[in-house]
Amino acid sequence: MDRILITSAIPYINGIKHLGNLVGSQLPADLYARYMRARGHEVLFLCATDEHGTPAELAADRAGKPVAEYCAEMWAIQKELADGFGLSFDKYGRSSSAQNHRLTQHLAGRLAEAGLIEEVTENQLYSGTDGRFLPDRYVEGTCPECGYERARGDQCENCTKQLDPIDLIEPRSAISGSTDLEMRETKHLYLKQRNLRQQLSDWIDSKTDWPILTTSIARKWLDDGDGLQDRGITRDLDWGVPVMRGDKPWPGMEGKVFYVWFDAPIEYIACAKEWTDGRGAEDAEWERWWRTDKGADDVRYVQFMGKDNVPFHTLSFPATIIGSGEPWKLVDYIKSFNYLNYDGGQFSTSLGRGVFMDQALDILPADYWRWWLLSHAPESSDSEFTWDNFQASVNKDLADVLGNFVSRVTKFCRSRFGGTVPSGGTPGPGEEALIARLEAGLKAYETHMEAIEIRKSAAELRALWTAGNEYLQAAAPWTAYGKDPDRAAVAVRLALNLIRIYAVISAPFIPDASARMLDALNSSDTAWPSEMGDALAVLQPGHAIEVPDMLFRKITDDERETWRAQFAGTRD
Ligand code: 2FM
Ligand code: ZN
Repeated sequence: MDRILITSAIPYINGIKHLGNLVGSQLPADLYARYMRARGHEVLFLCATDEHGTPAELAADRAGKPVAEYCAEMWAIQKELADGFGLSFDKYGRSSSAQNHRLTQHLAGRLAEAGLIEEVTENQLYSGTDGRFLPDRYVEGTCPECGYERARGDQCENCTKQLDPIDLIEPRSAISGSTDLEMRETKHLYLKQRNLRQQLSDWIDSKTDWPILTTSIARKWLDDGDGLQDRGITRDLDWGVPVMRGDKPWPGMEGKVFYVWFDAPIEYIACAKEWTDGRGAEDAEWERWWRTDKGADDVRYVQFMGKDNVPFHTLSFPATIIGSGEPWKLVDYIKSFNYLNYDGGQFSTSLGRGVFMDQALDILPADYWRWWLLSHAPESSDSEFTWDNFQASVNKDLADVLGNFVSRVTKFCRSRFGGTVPSGGTPGPGEEALIARLEAGLKAYETHMEAIEIRKSAAELRALWTAGNEYLQAAAPWTAYGKDPDRAAVAVRLALNLIRIYAVISAPFIPDASARMLDALNSSDTAWPSEMGDALAVLQPGHAIEVPDMLFRKITDDERETWRAQFAGTRD
């Protein structure tokens, strides 16, 4: 049994996430967590809300609420939606937690002791109209790297370049739109990342099994002329982790907070402490996941994120961890994603374009979305959600293939065998051929799941469902029943057991439907089908089963058109 620590990029608190956000980190992380648990490994799966910085302040402002109140409310909403999508976090924390405040201040203190913090007096954009400094997202303008006109002061969404507000061409205030910006002096702490360049570079180079998307982004920022800059880790903002050196005041830094991208990844660690503190458990319990001097040497740590987050996780956060000189666990594998587009354009939070998590659950159960999103995950390139494709996938894969198999088998068992697993007959060449096919398919599925090749995993799972259908079609127990009931019994017995196997192996993708399949079989046996022959004999003759309500319904053309129109526009 292995121990696997899994984190998903922590979503910004500023509003409900769209399906592109979901498939870019939290959902694939959940797939992996569920799979690893199902294979008997010990998993700690963490996520949280990213509550500091300009995104939170700007959103609270728009909502007309104090930022702390806004964050508390949005955390509860995001948590409920995560539950609705079946995201099986062991802890859904908050980057504003006391645990994160303390750890962030502690690590900053350690970095200072290691000589990796520099105090820099610099000029920052100040808005006369707004009467304040404008850090990060408080400024918008044109990206100096790619020319994108709506780049934010912290990062260009278009080319992922990490930016400073003063880098932007034609900067304007994101609060008022004003362009009466001037430079004013202010003092900030910088993390001397350049001192760690060689260590980071060697570390990235040692990760030969990482996805190309991950390493290419990391190398780009390491190797570009201005790649690994020292980074300002403090801001002139009210909301955030107050700048302290451990538990001591930091002279000259009064009234400032740490930069959101400094404290957010630290929440991955702090969240584990929230997890144990919340249950009154010992620190040793979370430390064995995070401290290599306390058992975390054996842990495999896997992170999930969208491509825009990669520089922070391959360079900035490791710089914090390594620079602290403390034995924190470094990530072992980073699975990153391209973007999911929406129906000929981009998902857009600001324009309300596309389907958001709450809206998705209002119209269909989570499994429909989980299946489509995961089976179309933007792994090797950007992918696109279209209503036609969504309808086709749901109707074919879920309703026609899997749902139909479950329905036909259980109904036939009820009508001909009194709703119990039939006895009699012996398996023949048809069954042997199916078993061979299932064994090979399952092996391929396991290989892809372990490699976190999500689309390939989904394709293999679909092929396993199809194999069952084809067998059933050929065995045709409904025809065989008349002249050779034993033949029909063999097929139905096998098919019922196959439903249990489908429930177990499909659960990481479609957990609710899987649970309903097991319920209908009156089985709580979730053992992984390591040996196919044995797995097909779990439900013994005489075992009573039920016919489940329809597992998946079809999406009609009318619905498809209604939803297409409904989600094209703006959201309140
Ligand atoms: O891009 C985002 O949504 C960020 N909130 C991700 C932060 S991940 C981590 F570093 F905490
Ligand atoms: Zn750009």
